Amino acid sequence: MDYLEIIGKKNLSGSVKISGAKNAALPLLASTILSSNKVQITNLPNVVDIRTLLKLLGMLGATFNHDNTNISIDTINLTETKATYDIVKTMRASILVLGPLLARFGHCEVSLPGGCAIGQRPVDLHLKALEQMGAKIEIKAGYILATVDGALKGATIVFDKVTVTGTENIVMAAALALGTTTIVNAAKEPEVVQLCEVLADAGVKIEGIGTNRLIIEGTNRQTVPFKPFKIIPDRIEAGTYLCAGAITNSTVKIENVVPMHLDAVLAKFEEMGYKILKDETSVTILPANEIKPIHITTTEYPGFPTDMQAQFMAVATMANGVSVIDEKLFENRFMHVSELVRMGAEISLNGTVATVTGTPQQLIGTDVMATDLRASSALVLAALVAEGTTKVHRIYHLDRGYDKLEVKLVNIGADIVREKE
Ligand code: EPZ
Repeated sequence: MDYLEIIGKKNLSGSVKISGAKNAALPLLASTILSSNKVQITNLPNVVDIRTLLKLLGMLGATFNHDNTNISIDTINLTETKATYDIVKTMRASILVLGPLLARFGHCEVSLPGGCAIGQRPVDLHLKALEQMGAKIEIKAGYILATVDGALKGATIVFDKVTVTGTENIVMAAALALGTTTIVNAAKEPEVVQLCEVLADAGVKIEGIGTNRLIIEGTNRQTVPFKPFKIIPDRIEAGTYLCAGAITNSTVKIENVVPMHLDAVLAKFEEMGYKILKDETSVTILPANEIKPIHITTTEYPGFPTDMQAQFMAVATMANGVSVIDEKLFENRFMHVSELVRMGAEISLNGTVATVTGTPQQLIGTDVMATDLRASSALVLAALVAEGTTKVHRIYHLDRGYDKLEVKLVNIGADIVREKE
């Protein structure tokens, strides 16, 4: 296993090119199961989760030419419809093949994704919606056995909670259903929007794209001709590098981004006293005269994203004052707190609320352990301003969602080396 060795207190400067969004690429790769032609995709992020999903699609019979960021994928001759535990256990987003496989083939077996470090993360809403569309769902020996006679039927689906991959699964299932599906309380994340846009460009009639009410006219199991597309920029990767600028109080520019996707995050940086410059495709963060504490409540897009919570908690350790962070989406997304405290941060937890007392000069480098994707990026951020050397262990978590994180940080002045345990 690898670890990162980081020497803190380096000023950063320069610009970072942001990669394609992991959480857009995953549903879009799964959606190629619905395609009647070979699909050309560019700007894929070069991260482990993408390689894992491609391995799963390969096991189902897809063939592809893939050169890290571009792919031509052909699922026309898909033969298998079973997503096995050994793959799904490494990446819960494998659940995204459930909707398209069931819609196209009328049957599939998908291993139930276990929980993960940040929470139990059930898929009950995905399954309930598919049953409303006529599927028979059985859970047996840890697998979801889904069947439907003929095509799935259009239905009105009202999600009890906003679910990103739940919305994506049902959009893909509805695309090949017979009749009209209305999704009420749909997720509106940019990644959901791009999935809808790609399917609409392939000829699927979808109304309400970008809203919480989607109306999808199914093709009655007719696969559709996908047009080539480019994955949208990763707004969470982008926010993470802006946090690198914030925590070191340096000037950092991020390029190849959609600034609008970062509205809630940029507003918080400005509230903390940082200056933000924007143009069409880039954002620059400039130092704050005084880093002010912040109040954050995570919520669905376009509100403040839960995937940026850990990173902002690291930045809040540098604020002059007490910050309050309320994590509303996941019940256990504070795994980074104990590690930050070991570095000298003053953070107390009360249920879903973390209180961070800024200790601008107090973080000390030490050995810390990553537990989940975004928590590990928070530990790297803290290490950038800690006194001395920090070793971040178990960075396989980091590699799942960040494309060469340490290389991009070294390019703007950080002192980081990837070592073997
Ligand atoms: C997506 O996960 C993202 N993953 C997550 O990013 C992100 O944190 C999350 O959305 C919230 O924005 C991908 O897109 C691949 P949800 P997802 O279904 O879809 C509950 C990262 O760091 N729920 O929107 O799994 C659930 O427990 C990852 O890149 C049910 O109760 O999240 C949670 O409390 C981490 N039943 C809430 O809804 C269900 O059937 C939101 O979950 C589904 C969800």
